[in-house]
Amino acid sequence: MKLNKRLLSLSEMVHEPYDLVWDCCCDHGLLGFKILASGLIKQVNFVDVVPDITDKLTAKLQQHGHHLPADAGWQVLCQDVSEINLEKSAQQLPIVSKQLVIISGVGGDLMIDIMKRIVTSYDDLNVDFLLCPVQHSYKLRKVLKDLQFKSKAERLVLENKRGYELLLISQIEGQPISLVGSYEFWQSNPNANIYLENLITHYQRSAIASEANQLSQFALDDYRVVKQQYF
Ligand SMILES: C[S@@+](CC[C@H](N)C(=O)[O-])C[C@H]1O[C@@H](n2cnc3c(N)ncnc32)[C@H](O)[C@@H]1O
Repeated sequence: MKLNKRLLSLSEMVHEPYDLVWDCCCDHGLLGFKILASGLIKQVNFVDVVPDITDKLTAKLQQHGHHLPADAGWQVLCQDVSEINLEKSAQQLPIVSKQLVIISGVGGDLMIDIMKRIVTSYDDLNVDFLLCPVQHSYKLRKVLKDLQFKSKAERLVLENKRGYELLLISQIEGQPISLVGSYEFWQSNPNANIYLENLITHYQRSAIASEANQLSQFALDDYRVVKQQYF
């Protein structure tokens, strides 16, 4: 099955030789499959909370596994992504190991909740996260900054009239996270101005609708500055 632009861009952002990649909230599992098929990554753990989804994916992987490199390993886990055990996985990997946790296709608020819970459950591990929230990126970026994350790469993808922010982050290396996205982020898509206008319209409406919501006003002010500076 052909990957859409968003999933394809996410797969392209995985170019370090991680020892283990987690495709969380995996649903169809297309992203993890594509990453395994590249041959760079030898082990992918697929995670989804819905048993019917993980059963179907297991059957699909068993059926199509012969398309993957011979040394590709995978397992499908039916659980809440906030409960993935990064410490235990690290113990089963080489002494110096690196994991990548991908969470894509869930709302920004749920992603904030998941990230806060995952971060409290490990210590001193070399873990990168690749995130693609559906909306509420400003709020998510603020929480990630508070959790001491740094940005390693970010991209904007526009698909079906929607904008998606793709964030590769780490607590160890990278640039300070910008709440609105870096200059490179806004340069990463030739139609970025359309996404920016949509955000400004959205935050104008929500700033009027909820006077108490200071974050909407901050976001609006910050996105207006982006417009002045980069467009
Ligand atoms: C829209 S799909 C995203 C599929 C794929 N990652 C993508 O980006 O296209 C969202 C999936 O997240 C799963 N999900 C939602 N909350 C979850 C949680 N807390 N833990 C694990 N999976 C979750 C749902 O069951 C669903 O299959």
